[in-house]
Amino acid sequence: MDDHKRLFFALCPDAFIRAELQKAQQQYESAEARPVIQENLHMTLLFLGMVPNNLVPKLNALAQTIQLDPFSLHIDHIDVWPRQRLMWAGCHQVPKKLQQLEHALRKGAQRCGIKIENRPYHPHITLARKVKTGTKMELSASLEWQVNAFSLVESVTEPSGVVYSEIASWKLA
Ligand code: 2AM
Repeated sequence: MDDHKRLFFALCPDAFIRAELQKAQQQYESAEARPVIQENLHMTLLFLGMVPNNLVPKLNALAQTIQLDPFSLHIDHIDVWPRQRLMWAGCHQVPKKLQQLEHALRKGAQRCGIKIENRPYHPHITLARKVKTGTKMELSASLEWQVNAFSLVESVTEPSGVVYSEIASWKLA
């Protein structure tokens, strides 16, 4: 569908956080697991699905209206969702500002005419897929991620795997 893009809003970590997440990922290495490559590590804010290209300017306009201060994420544990066979990293305490950001994007995207799945938001960073087993694990030192911006990201499935490219990003101020 050339006239649509598969899009999501996300928090994209810097190189330091990506490298730290990769270290956490390696603690769980197993033969069958498919680790997410470093450049694809992110925290989804809102999955939009296939969006017509003509709505992208509206999403840009929506993102520009968001007024929220920067905040910190304390990534402190790793867990596995067995049904999805997904290993992820997350925060025990979800910051209020993260919830506000997700809520504002959700409401705004709906106003743009995008149908959003009505699932509760479970902020997480997927570390690996096709995980067979796993146990909850606290990180020995929580990872402090200073969130200063959020992004609109396109997901393209290439023969070599999924490629995420940032279409635009906005500073929190
Ligand atoms: P996941 O990592 O838990 O699979 C791009 O696909 C991003 O959007 C991923 O972070 C993915 O989460 C998230 N996402 C949320 N809902 C989705 C859905 N219904 N289909 C695909 N990806 C979804």
